[in-house]
Amino acid sequence: MSFIVAIDGPAGSGKGTITKKVGERLNLINIDTGAMYRCVALECLNENIKLEEKHKIIEVSNRIKIELKEDGKVFLNYKDVTTQIRSKEVSQIVSQISSIVEVRLNMVNLQRKMAEGKKIIMEGRDITTYVFPNADIKIYLDASLEERARRRYKEMKEKGQEITYQDVINNIKIRDKNDKNKEIGSLQIAPDAIVIDTTYLTIEEVAERIINIIEEKLK
Ligand code: DC
Repeated sequence: MSFIVAIDGPAGSGKGTITKKVGERLNLINIDTGAMYRCVALECLNENIKLEEKHKIIEVSNRIKIELKEDGKVFLNYKDVTTQIRSKEVSQIVSQISSIVEVRLNMVNLQRKMAEGKKIIMEGRDITTYVFPNADIKIYLDASLEERARRRYKEMKEKGQEITYQDVINNIKIRDKNDKNKEIGSLQIAPDAIVIDTTYLTIEEVAERIINIIEEKLK
């Protein structure tokens, strides 16, 4: 029988890091659904497909082979693309790619298959509302716009990327708007989700809170 912990939240809410930590501590398979949309975007770049060529993008999302390994590595068509999917080029187009309904339906199908009969923790934007509306546990992570931008800015600077704090804020505002206005799978707070505001909490504190919620449910 499956056991599903679903986590949603906007960019910079800490979802990725926290989900990984909780998954490792409780032996849950970690599924980063953003990485899947990033694989579609990367393959489109590799094949020189333009954003206007919707039918080609859908075709790519139908045929590519995506593997999310237990150690966090991401494979696209049997090649390790863990670093490549985080590139600026992929980040620039992934939001538009993930707005295409047919692409979403293909990814959602894959996500549901990945969870069959397993104990998983899955993070994204529409996991608590659309992919697994009946998940065992639903969590929505949030933080103020300024704090989310500060985290992203720090991350990008550490990677040596040339960017200003103002650019990051603007970028996050655009992503929030895109994420909240998708035709299907838009970012929303499920009525029965537990909302955690991470603005003034450390990663460890948030992880601890979620672990307690899961352990309580598993009792
Ligand atoms: O979480 P992330 O930044 O790696 O996600 C990449 C993009 O994919 C982002 O634009 C939001 C989108 N996404 C989505 O639409 N639905 C999901 N379940 C996960 C990510």
